[in-house]
Amino acid sequence: MDSSRMKELLPRSVRRRLGALRRWLRARPQRTQRQKEQLLASGALSPAEHELLSRVESVISYADGMYKGDGAHYFNVGLSAIHCIEAALNAAQITTVNNILDLPCGYGRVLRFLVPRFPQARITACELLPDAVRFCVEQFGAVPAYSSYKLNKLSLDAQFDLIWCGSLITHLDAPRTLDLLEFFARQLAPGGLVICTTHGDFVAERILDAAEFYGLPHASIPALVASYRQHGYGYLDYPEAPGYGVSLTAPAWLRTQARAAGDLREVYFRARGWDDHQDVFGFVKEA
Ligand SMILES: C[S@@+](CC[C@H](N)C(=O)[O-])C[C@H]1O[C@@H](n2cnc3c(N)ncnc32)[C@H](O)[C@@H]1O
Repeated sequence: MDSSRMKELLPRSVRRRLGALRRWLRARPQRTQRQKEQLLASGALSPAEHELLSRVESVISYADGMYKGDGAHYFNVGLSAIHCIEAALNAAQITTVNNILDLPCGYGRVLRFLVPRFPQARITACELLPDAVRFCVEQFGAVPAYSSYKLNKLSLDAQFDLIWCGSLITHLDAPRTLDLLEFFARQLAPGGLVICTTHGDFVAERILDAAEFYGLPHASIPALVASYRQHGYGYLDYPEAPGYGVSLTAPAWLRTQARAAGDLREVYFRARGWDDHQDVFGFVKEA
């Protein structure tokens, strides 16, 4: 029986339990450990990547929505984030990093790489999902920080010299993106660097070509892309999550907002820099 037919026949509660069981089975620690070892043995990594990955924790939470069962992809996304961070640090001429914020940390897809890459640093894991924060604290020794839906109310009792913000702007409407940029300006130490990612031209083309709908209703996509093309920004809520959705952000639009949010000076940009997918920006807070 195909899966769509099964969906029609099974009650929602049973489907939910089966989904959880499937996620739990695919995230078994022995399985994710084997996936990491296979990637290490694949010959596809540079010596530096190999060395870093060999020191990365392979336990993945079954609740991690970023893990779809493909360990090679999951770990490569973490490695790609480290490349972005290193390139932006270079561009900003920052050589010492002591205090890092990962917002949103999720279940530590990137944070697990930050730990061995910056072994001396204090690393704060910040999320809306308390369970994800707890996982990062227990598995990777991160400092916990619980976020707020209202980013203009979010305040942490530290100044960071590095903030990694992977795939949050990609889900925010325009006012909340501005709130997030203002949060960066508030929480960065003078001279500190924030690296954030967005959906740009690549995603606009992909979503329009019907290669991938990013969880949005198909019929809504032309208007989203038209707004992006016309105004440099487009946003739509997910159908079942008012206030949370998918954004498309042109580089010029984000630069203007970053300037308006505070003294955030662009030092780095790379289209599709993260995982060959999301655009990557580095902004430094003026000293
Ligand atoms: C696409 S995931 C990316 C997670 C992580 N950066 C990664 O790459 O695995 C987006 C995450 O943003 C979190 N999120 C959404 N709104 C947030 C907020 N206001 N504060 C903190 N986290 C938020 C969601 O809970 C979700 O885990």
